Amino acid sequence: MTVPTYTQYIDFSVPQSPSYLIGVDVGTGGSRAILIDTDGAIVASATTEHQPFRSASPGWADQDPEDWWQASASSIRQVLSASGAAPEQIAAVAFAGQMHGAVLLDDRDQVLRPALIWCDQRTQRQSDWLEATVGRERIIALTANPALTNFTLTKLLWVRENEPELFQRFRRFLLPKDFVRLRLTGEHAMDVAEASGTLLLDVTNRRWSEEMFAACGMPLSCAPRLFESCEVCARVNEAGAAATGLRPGTPVVAGAGDQAAGAVGMGVVRPGTVSATIGTSGVVFAATDRPAADSLGRLHTFCHAVPDRWHVMGVTQAAGLSLRWLRDTLSPAQEYGALMDEAELSHPGSGELLWLPYLMGERTPHLDPEARGALIGMHAGSTRADVVRAVLEGVAFSLRDTLEIFAGMRVPVERIRLAGGGARAPLWRQIQADVYGQEVETVQTEEGAAYGAALLAGVGVKVWKGVEEACDTVVRTAARVEPNADAVSKLNSQYQIYRSLYPALKQTFHHLSAREEKFSV
Ligand code: XUL
Repeated sequence: MTVPTYTQYIDFSVPQSPSYLIGVDVGTGGSRAILIDTDGAIVASATTEHQPFRSASPGWADQDPEDWWQASASSIRQVLSASGAAPEQIAAVAFAGQMHGAVLLDDRDQVLRPALIWCDQRTQRQSDWLEATVGRERIIALTANPALTNFTLTKLLWVRENEPELFQRFRRFLLPKDFVRLRLTGEHAMDVAEASGTLLLDVTNRRWSEEMFAACGMPLSCAPRLFESCEVCARVNEAGAAATGLRPGTPVVAGAGDQAAGAVGMGVVRPGTVSATIGTSGVVFAATDRPAADSLGRLHTFCHAVPDRWHVMGVTQAAGLSLRWLRDTLSPAQEYGALMDEAELSHPGSGELLWLPYLMGERTPHLDPEARGALIGMHAGSTRADVVRAVLEGVAFSLRDTLEIFAGMRVPVERIRLAGGGARAPLWRQIQADVYGQEVETVQTEEGAAYGAALLAGVGVKVWKGVEEACDTVVRTAARVEPNADAVSKLNSQYQIYRSLYPALKQTFHHLSAREEKFSV
């Protein structure tokens, strides 16, 4: 049977001007919608918070997919109302979202259980099983990545093993933003950039890996249809329109996982330009013209949101989360701005304090879900300012680990663009310039993934000819920060000490983790 492509029945003509584009980022903390005009200017934005993820045991992280849909629909309604744009003026919508989460659906598209989200670390056993069954090298050959606890496949396998009755009703999986798209359009669709993080995609050839599905006994029928990120893949249906205020029939463009979409939003689409984003997680991301894999599997090698382009990225599990943990644990009433002001009282090197940000285990470079956070070097003279600054520096050190791996792989780093909380706070910007030992810059429209999604929506309906043209037209540098030579030298030597800490503490982390398992109820 030949399946008709969407291009056969979707009208690509751009509605009468002025027309607008909507990008929605289904994040961890909330869903953010932005509405932009076709010059790339933001007309309205709105964020609706999610319930925080639940962590029933250390390393577990569950969220409710219906919450994402309600929050996304609410944010879309808010931007339509705030902008005054008529539904007919919305040329297209596209999604970005937190990656890797496993949404399990039954045969009526009902959610079977809370989603195991990106930072969930309960699936080491399933990762080990995959390596033993398929073989580490074969997995990398098929998918360009090793088996990691974060990847969607390991989460599906966990549910299969631990909740077999529920799993009997499992028919399909989706990722978070693709679930929101399902509710908006009735279609099961995913882009290749997002699908790269499932461990089920043949990343080199940008299609599902039938061999991986077969090797782990998953039917290919449980996977959604694949698209390039800038392709129209669905249209808003009547139910989606009623929930959001959009016009039925509005084209929906595939979009991308938050990292690839965020890179588009920052113009990180060609080799040489690299982004360092500090959100809940921290990511250093480089566009490449080939699927460049790290032989040790410390980086993710994924399809980019640009056709015929790939990217590599290193991930710190708890980047912004480190600061949030510190704030929530030690001074819940304090605003982040006040915390930053306090950190200004300390100095480069944080009074010889060091922070290991492994609150949710770690991906790059350790690939160790049992790693734990640590504050090292406290003495009687240590101040709160030192502690806060040490957290900011520790997160930057962790991002530098990825830049070091890029250097070893000859991935060019000509300019570094900052995003997220690490770009907004002047102190964290300076710390990053000093830790990376290189000029860093910010972009004018620091809207990250939602903005990238809106640009992809525009490319899908031919507002721009391609993703590069969209970025060249709308993305502008806002500010540049030069490294300070004295701080670079101090932080360079501090980084060498930081590098020595994980190997020294690894065994302790694993003992603690084993005790947690033994004593947890
Ligand atoms: C990327 C990753 C995070 C999440 C959370 O691999 O896990 O960026 O998508 O935002």
